Amino acid sequence: MAITTSYRTRSGAVPLRSFKTKGRHSGIAGMGVYAPEKVVSNFDLEKLMDTSDKWITERTGIRTRHIAEPGTTTLELATKAARAALDSAGITANDLDMILVGTSSPDGPFPSIACRIQDELDAPGAVAWDMLAACTSFVYGLATADSFIATERADNVLVIGAEVLSRMLDYSNRGTAVIFGDGAGAAVVRPAPEGAGFLSWCLGSDGRGYLQVTCGNKELGAYAAKDPRPIIEMEGPDVFKFAVDIFIRQANEVCNEAGISMEDIDLWVPHQANFRIIDAAARRIGLPLDRVAINIDEYGNTSSASIPLALEEAIRKGRVKTGDNVLLAGFGSGLTWGATLLKWV
Ligand code: ACO
Repeated sequence: MAITTSYRTRSGAVPLRSFKTKGRHSGIAGMGVYAPEKVVSNFDLEKLMDTSDKWITERTGIRTRHIAEPGTTTLELATKAARAALDSAGITANDLDMILVGTSSPDGPFPSIACRIQDELDAPGAVAWDMLAACTSFVYGLATADSFIATERADNVLVIGAEVLSRMLDYSNRGTAVIFGDGAGAAVVRPAPEGAGFLSWCLGSDGRGYLQVTCGNKELGAYAAKDPRPIIEMEGPDVFKFAVDIFIRQANEVCNEAGISMEDIDLWVPHQANFRIIDAAARRIGLPLDRVAINIDEYGNTSSASIPLALEEAIRKGRVKTGDNVLLAGFGSGLTWGATLLKWV
């Protein structure tokens, strides 16, 4: 492990932790996604609040988002993505050693969505739990899978990012209501040949920035005491600056650890929070947009589901081939961040 540099957030310096994969390598063997059928356009939102298609498109790059019908559970979305991922990897639920679900919108405090999926899929041999790192959850899930496979404590790990964020939106707050959407994505992580799969990681958190994106957790006890329906709130411009900066730093870190130069990145799959964030970071990294996976125009910000939704679409469109260097990078509430450099298997 290397603590290479000190990274300064608005709240102060934090170390940047990067790791080179050690032990048995692992990679993504199959993926599946699911998004609700209902599509809400910017024009639909114009009828609900004081906003415009022009503002949303120019400031965020979002044109539509998939929104779950009332009563739809995160579990339903996650299970559909999970089944598709198992099919794509050519394994059955019986083969699973672990199920990790990243979500900021669980259907209830407990049991975990992961245990419910274990039951839905009938995966008796799996250890299952949820992980909460907001939009970074999927990358943290991949990192956990990689660690267990590296140390030969697991062979087949199902990592899922699933969200029904629409039930956490206040449609009188145009600053957040236009941004988020619902969806789910899943990946099966399995052992990969030496020198392939996940090569390096950069993971981090800065809890001092906890107020920058919140949902029901702003004042301790407020959620339990008086607010039955937590609502997403954020300091948009501050998060924007943090996001561009951490994207660039993470890309540097994982490339250095993997011994790959930035020009050798074949595809960058960033968390889809705002097109302008992705565009600004890509310019400073020196990556042309034809080497960046972007589907925020269709889905909006789906938090932990955004990276798998974008990666699966890139695979489906033939944009990823064996041997490609693929960079996945996320950031989110916490504050949290995480990136990995993968040599595609
Ligand atoms: N429609 C029309 N006008 C709007 C809207 C809207 N939907 N939302 C805000 N505005 C207005 C504001 O009221 C403001 O008006 P004013 O100048 O009269 O006061 C003006 O637009 C500018 O507002 P800003 O907030 O400064 O707009 P900005 O360009 O920063 O865009 C945005 C806001 C899109 C939220 C941007 O800051 C952003 O994307 N930030 C990053 C958010 C993010 O990445 N979050 C990820 C974490 S999510 C998680 O972890 C779960």
